[in-house]
Amino acid sequence: MIEFIKNLAMEAGRLALNLRRDLQEEDISSKGTVKDMVTAADRQVEAFIINRIAENYPSHGVFGEETGQSRTDAEYVWVIDPIDGTTSFIHDLQFYSVSIALRQHGRTIAAAVCAPRLEELFWADAEGAWLNDKEIKVSVRSRLEECLLATGFACVRSELPINNIKYFSRVLPAIRGIRRCGSAAIDLCYVACGRFDGFWELNLALYDIAAGAFILEMAGGCVTDIDGGRDFPANGILATNKIIHAELSQQIHGK
Ligand code: IPD
Ligand code: CA
Ligand code: CA
Repeated sequence: MIEFIKNLAMEAGRLALNLRRDLQEEDISSKGTVKDMVTAADRQVEAFIINRIAENYPSHGVFGEETGQSRTDAEYVWVIDPIDGTTSFIHDLQFYSVSIALRQHGRTIAAAVCAPRLEELFWADAEGAWLNDKEIKVSVRSRLEECLLATGFACVRSELPINNIKYFSRVLPAIRGIRRCGSAAIDLCYVACGRFDGFWELNLALYDIAAGAFILEMAGGCVTDIDGGRDFPANGILATNKIIHAELSQQIHGK
């Protein structure tokens, strides 16, 4: 099964890369505001993934960002973000990914995140987590002042009661640095392989984080909601190397 998922993510990643080369202005449209965009490539990559799953696993359910849910009561459900980082994709930046998670009875059992411009495939199953063919583990940094973190901001920010600016300004003075790459799936995988020590964000959906959160947990990391509970991503997500989890949580909440 993991070979199927890895190949699917890589093939979908190659498709996204090719579609980016041919992307025209008329392929880009808005989901309601010019900050929240979608491209023909998002839809084509999702259709490719769903067709491949239907051919091989016709009884499985699917939850994809662009097409929604089908057979969600099935034992196995695939959670798909065809292009995580559409803004980067449109602006021709390298930080976008294809994110695919396989869940059994609502629990992720295998996942892959392919960043095609970076030529990186992150994947995990019950055995552990890998970047291409190298096993990965989270970092061992323990002091916030030596940590590099990542965060993100929802594209529709101005309407939100909590838009992350408050948390951002509390965390920033305490840490070595921060990055905003533009793909939550990549952010989580970068924590998994120790490039980042932690990541937090609000207002994400299951398809943004299902694969990355599993890969991070299998690499030894810790994933909770923003208050330390299990209600993620509905109540935000806080993802770390485990060691800094409690301290970062306190910093976020100004304690
Ligand atoms: C977005 C990315 C981004 C995050 C946004 C998400 P999309 O997903 O994960 O990093 O900050 O909140 O919506 O829309 O490019 O699939
Ligand atoms: Ca996404
Ligand atoms: Ca997306």
